[in-house]
Amino acid sequence: MKLKANPANLILRNGRVIDPARGLDSIADVLIEEGKIIEIGPKIEIGAQKRGQFDPIDAEGKWIVPGLIDMHVHLREPGEEYKETIASGTRAAVAGGFTSVACMPNTRPVNDCAALTRFILSKAETEGVCRVFPVAAISKGLEGKNLAEFGELRSAGAVAVSDDGRPVESSLLMRRALEYAKTFDLPVISHCEDLGLCSGGLMNEGRVSTRLGLRGIPGAAEEVMAARDIILAELTGARVHLAHISTAGSVALIREAKKRGVLVTAETAPHYFTLEEELLCSFNPVYKVNPPVRTREDIEAVKAGLRDGTLDVIASDHAPHSTVEKELEFEFAANGMIGLESSLPLILRLVREGVLTPLEAIAKLTRNPARILSIPFGTLAEGVDADLTLIDPLIKYTIDVKTFESKSRNCPFDGMEAQGRAVMTLVEGRVVFSVSD
Ligand code: DOR
Repeated sequence: MKLKANPANLILRNGRVIDPARGLDSIADVLIEEGKIIEIGPKIEIGAQKRGQFDPIDAEGKWIVPGLIDMHVHLREPGEEYKETIASGTRAAVAGGFTSVACMPNTRPVNDCAALTRFILSKAETEGVCRVFPVAAISKGLEGKNLAEFGELRSAGAVAVSDDGRPVESSLLMRRALEYAKTFDLPVISHCEDLGLCSGGLMNEGRVSTRLGLRGIPGAAEEVMAARDIILAELTGARVHLAHISTAGSVALIREAKKRGVLVTAETAPHYFTLEEELLCSFNPVYKVNPPVRTREDIEAVKAGLRDGTLDVIASDHAPHSTVEKELEFEFAANGMIGLESSLPLILRLVREGVLTPLEAIAKLTRNPARILSIPFGTLAEGVDADLTLIDPLIKYTIDVKTFESKSRNCPFDGMEAQGRAVMTLVEGRVVFSVSD
């Protein structure tokens, strides 16, 4: 990471420290020395001779949480730098409170070899402002034919494999991918989509698609693949992580599989618990995403899945597109929406609604993705690098894409009245974002 200053010595005073990895939710101070968390506790005393060396930050009324992790983003570099770069995407991340992001391999060229993984990591090292964890491809070129070299990819720094953006259509290839990944303890992230059932659909299949005359994508297109991958995870004993879950049926399948002890984890994105298919009546392509936004019943099921732990993670699926691909007739517009700078307020809304406690919400943004990716972050344990996020849960503001760090503008939440956001983000004890910046 390109971090400006030396790590600061800081003392954050009187914040609500929420660390799900330690079951901690209490008012405390956090002492940071040379980029590491040294102590957390009420009213920390600093000896007289050292006192002047620690810059105080008043965190009263704020939450102090482990640096947030977004395990599903598209940084578009290499190849589509006009949509996003590692520099702009990581700036967007820290502005949204994230200190770590996992980036999907559907770049141009695809991240399916060690050289590409290393390229992303070296760019992140020189130009990024937060940690970047590459997810490499399952199949070479995302073509669904030949497996990429998982061992080399892992050694180069990949933390998971995925053909995200496309399903692995062949069940045999998926079986082999799970077996191969298991030998390296790599999670396989599945984009669950049966392309046959989708048959060129543009939105959720149902009442609204019929009314609008737009070809629909049934929930079953996701559920058939979720069921298949659960069965294959069971067969192989490998870890599968199901990305961007959007339907009630998928939530039910995952819930049941977890009860049986299958090594399945799953994520959803804020748009799947916030946006309803009726919005498509506007024909505004900003709402076009794959999988599509669904019905009120699906939204309620996704929330129930988050509440009972069936859905482990909330990830943005930040998918930047330029106006050239996005502002077209609905049929021709690209799928995807940006989310790094709007995720947190939407998750805080779930907390206000009583769907999740603060501890549960923060777990889905810290401890849980860290465990799935086996990365040593997402906790405020003493001695670890001081990656942390200061959240003001009460601040009211209007989400405004014009203020975003992302290069793209395809955010469906533009203009929304929001409450709560990251006001300061620290990576390794350095302030990489603060609202006054
Ligand atoms: O809407 C989407 N956009 N879904 C995906 O799976 C891929 C993503 C992209 O890369 O734009």
